[in-house]
Amino acid sequence: MKNARMFSIAGFVTLSLIVWELALPRASAARDLHLLLAHNLAPDHPVHLGMEFFAKRVDEESKGRIHVTVYPSGQLGTEKEVLELVQTGAVSMTKVSSLSLEGFTPLYGVMNLPFLFRDREHFFGVLDGAVGTEILDASRPQALQGLTFYDAGERSFYAKKPIEKPDDVRGLKIRVMENATAIRMMQLLGGNPTPMGFGEVYTALEQGVIDGAENNITALTISRHGEVAKYYSIVQHIFAPDVLLISRDIFDRLSPEDRVLVKKAADDSKVYQREVWQEKFKQYEAEARDKLKVQILRPDKQPFIDKVLPLHEEVAGRGADYRRLIEAVKAQ
Ligand code: GCU
Repeated sequence: MKNARMFSIAGFVTLSLIVWELALPRASAARDLHLLLAHNLAPDHPVHLGMEFFAKRVDEESKGRIHVTVYPSGQLGTEKEVLELVQTGAVSMTKVSSLSLEGFTPLYGVMNLPFLFRDREHFFGVLDGAVGTEILDASRPQALQGLTFYDAGERSFYAKKPIEKPDDVRGLKIRVMENATAIRMMQLLGGNPTPMGFGEVYTALEQGVIDGAENNITALTISRHGEVAKYYSIVQHIFAPDVLLISRDIFDRLSPEDRVLVKKAADDSKVYQREVWQEKFKQYEAEARDKLKVQILRPDKQPFIDKVLPLHEEVAGRGADYRRLIEAVKAQ
């Protein structure tokens, strides 16, 4: 494990030097541009398939002038680590959860509010509308440019014991992402929030360091957490989207035509990725239930909503933009 990590760091340093050299646009239109896109999901994940679509579309539309290479599986680090590399331009692009992004662009706290979206239609309407565009652009002061949102399903709880009501969470060590809103939500539910990177969750469950976690269904199937946590409680508390981002400075150095090309390819990949997710989603639930023998529970959501609702006012109280955006989402 340690050797693999050392290898990946050595590989990364070499790679980033090459990419840095190639990615620095020299204002010469003829020169090829190589963009490295690193993320932490597996290569058979629907969100990865969306990024592969993006890479292919960019290649086709630029007639081979702009190449995107996708590095999956956290090879270049955790979401937080890779975001820092994208800020400097050492890695050109990434895809992270909006929950990770909140640590960089606090306005994502709006997107990450539990029980904010009524359903998927409401969620997609917000992402594709004015609020979505404003939030994608809100990362510019942090040297990041949001390009599009991918569907990461809805997050629900999974644990070694059934969670059917908020009281069942009381005292449990539940892994959350390294995110203030998620930590606060878990405190309101009476659980013991345990922030850690995604790559550590399987072992932490296996070794009993945590009792459960919360995520979309692919965590149980593609990431095999269903081998070590046998109860999935579909509460759908957070609809945190995944976000495709590029280094702001690399994006700004593109010609205006190439900026449109990259943004359009990102939006096309979003449409494709949503279809893939929709198509595969039922299959993941069946796989968790039938192959991994995970018991799927559908608790009444209202008691969970009642517990965490104070968060809406807490986040609105962070500033005028938060309140305005939360109200806009609710009114949509
Ligand atoms: C989702 C999301 C990832 C994130 C993970 C997590 O799977 O797509 O980007 O890292 O949740 O819980 O950490």
